[in-house]
Amino acid sequence: MSRSAAGHIAGLPLPVWLVALSIVPLLGGAARLLASGDAPASADMRFSMAPMPVTLHIAAATFYALAGAFQFDSGLRGRWPALHRVLGRVTVACGLVVGLTGLWMTLASEIPVGLQGELLGVVRVAVATSMVAFLVLGVIAIQAGQVRRHQAWMARAYALALGAGTQALLLLPPTLVFGEITGLVRDLVMTAAWLLNLWVVERVLAHPAQAQAPRRVVGTPSQA
Ligand code: HEM
Repeated sequence: MSRSAAGHIAGLPLPVWLVALSIVPLLGGAARLLASGDAPASADMRFSMAPMPVTLHIAAATFYALAGAFQFDSGLRGRWPALHRVLGRVTVACGLVVGLTGLWMTLASEIPVGLQGELLGVVRVAVATSMVAFLVLGVIAIQAGQVRRHQAWMARAYALALGAGTQALLLLPPTLVFGEITGLVRDLVMTAAWLLNLWVVERVLAHPAQAQAPRRVVGTPSQA
């Protein structure tokens, strides 16, 4: 996939890609909330027994994933900086709720061992804690006027959250072939998705010039 004009990947604006990546878990979340009134299936009993964390998690993740995607669009930030600030505050609050409820469910919910082994349990604690820490560091950075540092921490936090989307993508092919993936293989795939997202975001942060290269204006080199 080639990065082209400012904020575009393969001709499409960055937010489109980010929303596309989060669409599967967001639809799963909507389905989970809509199904919450139904008779609880035994496998999903944990959600109906303790609906608060999962409901908060899904509602906050929906806003965070969708609004957060547009926070990374440099064009929108430049055109409506006040909107970026207002949306940013709500988005950060939602991101904190996503991380904290993720941590809450990891530690307190009776997740079947096939869906969360020891490895995934430890990784989820690390991811949720890191996401909260990255958001706090992002806020501290912008309050200190350090814009680059703010962008970097916010990108890292968002990349961790969107692990949910990468996990759905990575689990889809083996699930279609073998049925539901459980146990250590699932733990490893889930972990790999977060590592992959972090690797991608660190690469983008290491090469900001390519990602934000201005469009060349033919014939007016002095203004380009
Ligand atoms: C935008 C990002 C995210 C989205 C869209 C999302 C979405 C969801 C959804 C839809 C569920 C319900 C799953 C089901 O119905 O079976 C869920 C559960 C859960 N999420 Fe997230 N999530 C996100 C980020 C995170 C993060 C960063 C963590 C950190 C560890 C996390 C941890 C969890 C945990 C522990 C559960 C409960 C799993 C279970 O009981 O099987 N999520 N998430």
